[in-house]
Amino acid sequence: MDAQPRIGIIVSSTRPTRICKNIAQWVLEIAQEHGALVYQLIDLADVGLPFLDEPLPPATGHYQHEHTKAWSQQVSACAGFILVVPQYNWGYPAPLKNALDFLYAEWASKPVSIVSYGSHGGGKATEQLKVVLQGLHMRNTVTNPALSIADEMVDAEGQLKDITTDFAPFKPDVAQTIGELVTMLTIFA
Ligand SMILES: Cc1cc2nc3c(=O)[nH]c(=O)nc-3n(C[C@H](O)[C@H](O)[C@H](O)COP(=O)(O)O)c2cc1C
Repeated sequence: MDAQPRIGIIVSSTRPTRICKNIAQWVLEIAQEHGALVYQLIDLADVGLPFLDEPLPPATGHYQHEHTKAWSQQVSACAGFILVVPQYNWGYPAPLKNALDFLYAEWASKPVSIVSYGSHGGGKATEQLKVVLQGLHMRNTVTNPALSIADEMVDAEGQLKDITTDFAPFKPDVAQTIGELVTMLTIFA
């Protein structure tokens, strides 16, 4: 049991050449500057869920498979979440929807922030995700940063060249949403 509430920072792209993990790591470092809570990266590529294969609806809380029970424990251990989300064809990645759909009560009432990114930011992915999080009865932060990745920020392989320098303008919004999460957990819990 943590002395402080734990925030799970979810890496929602599982592509082998993803930039999501670097961005999530950058978010984690900003969160750790804030102190206050315990922060943990949760990489959906490591979680490794299959497509939803439980026979009963997750709202029943009856799980048959070990992978679901393990995912339930991991999510239950967190008091809140930061979802780091690329925009894919104006939506958000399928592995994230699958991971959300696997559980139900484990998400409910918990504060959640969305940090999206894409060449035009990730506003359209965020709008779709907000509706889903509302369906799960989560409490979304007011600030949900959408990070615009300009062509010159990435190399020929699509990897970020200098995240510290290029993402510096986004840092205040990310710090703001982390501050909102902390407030929701410590004041309005
Ligand atoms: C399937 C797919 C769809 C994409 N659709 C969009 C999009 O709608 N808008 C956008 O700005 N970028 C889009 N992109 C570009 C991504 O923002 C960019 O590839 C980013 O690196 C993806 O995140 P990831 O590397 O962490 O998976 C798309 C990329 C992929 C792979």
